[in-house]
Amino acid sequence: MSEIDALKIQLESLQREALAAFAEAEGLNALQALRVHYLGKKGALTEVLKGVGKLPPADRPVIGKFVNQAKQALAVALDAMEVELAVKAKAERIEAERIDVTLPGRNRPKGALHPVQQGLDELTAIFAQMGFDVAEGPEIEDEFHNFDALNIPPEHPARAMHDTFFIKDMKNDEGTEPMLLRTHTSPVQIRAMKRFVAEGGEPPLAVVAPGRVYRCDYDVTHSPMFHQVEVFKVDRDVSLAHLKGVLQHFLSTYFEKDVAIRLRPHYFPFTEPSAEVDIGCVFCAGKGCRICKGSGWIEVLGSGMIHPNVLRSVGIDSNEFSGFAFGLGVERMVMLKQGIPDLRLFFENDVRFLSRMGVAK
Ligand code: PHE
Repeated sequence: MSEIDALKIQLESLQREALAAFAEAEGLNALQALRVHYLGKKGALTEVLKGVGKLPPADRPVIGKFVNQAKQALAVALDAMEVELAVKAKAERIEAERIDVTLPGRNRPKGALHPVQQGLDELTAIFAQMGFDVAEGPEIEDEFHNFDALNIPPEHPARAMHDTFFIKDMKNDEGTEPMLLRTHTSPVQIRAMKRFVAEGGEPPLAVVAPGRVYRCDYDVTHSPMFHQVEVFKVDRDVSLAHLKGVLQHFLSTYFEKDVAIRLRPHYFPFTEPSAEVDIGCVFCAGKGCRICKGSGWIEVLGSGMIHPNVLRSVGIDSNEFSGFAFGLGVERMVMLKQGIPDLRLFFENDVRFLSRMGVAK
C-alpha cells in the first residue's frame, strides 16, 4: 500500500472515531475536551499531518486537501453537536425550574398585634373619641409620683399593699428616694396635671393614660407585669354624675351592649369618695353564674373623685376645681370581653392561644 493510501485510511478511521465520540459526548464540557483532542494544536489530526512531510512533494497537496476536508467535517460536526447539547441543557434547566400553577397556594402566617395591645388600643380609642388626650408616663417611677403625691404617705398601709418592686441601687435625681416600677398608672395623673399647671393651662384637663404596671404577684388573676388604662378629668364643677356618665358610655361601648353598672363604695387614698365599679355579668346577663360567683355582678375598675390633697400636691386649687379619676386593668377587660379564663395565657406566648385571638393566623 502506498504511503498516501495508508494516510488516507488513517484519516478516515480517525474521522469515524471522532464523529462517534462527538455523538456520545455527555455535555458541553466533554465536547470541548474532544474538540481540543482532535483539532487542537497538539491534537490527533495534527499528528497525522506530521506524516505528510514524508510524502513525495507531488502527493502532498492531494493529502493536504484530504486533511482539510476531514478537519472541516469534524468542525461542522462539533458545531452541530454543540448546538444540540446547548438546547438540551436549556430544556433541562427549564424543566427543573418549572412552576406548577395548578398547585394550591401556600398560606403565609400573618402577624398581628398581641391581644393585650389590641385591648389597650381599643380602650384608649374609646376615650380619645370622647375628647380625652392620650398621655404616657415612665414605668420606672419615684416614690413621690407613685405614692406621696397620690396621698399615700410613707407610713400608709396602702404602700405595703401595692407589692412594689424597688430597683436596687437606683435613686431619684436628688438621691433621696429609691426608684421603683410603678404599681399603677395613677402617677400619670400627677405628671399630666403638673405639666398642665406648668404650661399655665386652664382646666378642663381630660386625659387617658394607657401603660404597663408592675406588682409582685402571680396567680390565675395576677401577673407581675400587667396593663392599666387611667382616665381622669379636672374642671370646674366636675361631679360623680360625670364620672358615672363617662363610665356608662365607655363600658357599653367596649362591651358592645347596654351594660348595667353599679358604683360600690370603696377606699382609695387618692380619691374621695371612692367607688369600685361593677358591671352586670356579661356572661349570664345578671342571672348569676360561675364567673360572677352567683352575684350577677363583676368588678371591673376602681374610681372616685380626685382627692383635694392630690390636686393640692400639683398646685391646682381644690376649691375652684374638682375631678374624677378611674383606673382599669386591661387584661381583665380583654378576658371579660373574649371569655378568657386564665390571665397567664396572655404571657405564655402559646401560638394556639394567640392565633385564636387574631394573631399569627
Ligand atoms: N390606681 C388604682 C389601682 O391601680 C385604680 C384607681 C385609679 C382607682 C383611679 C381610683 C382612681 O388600683
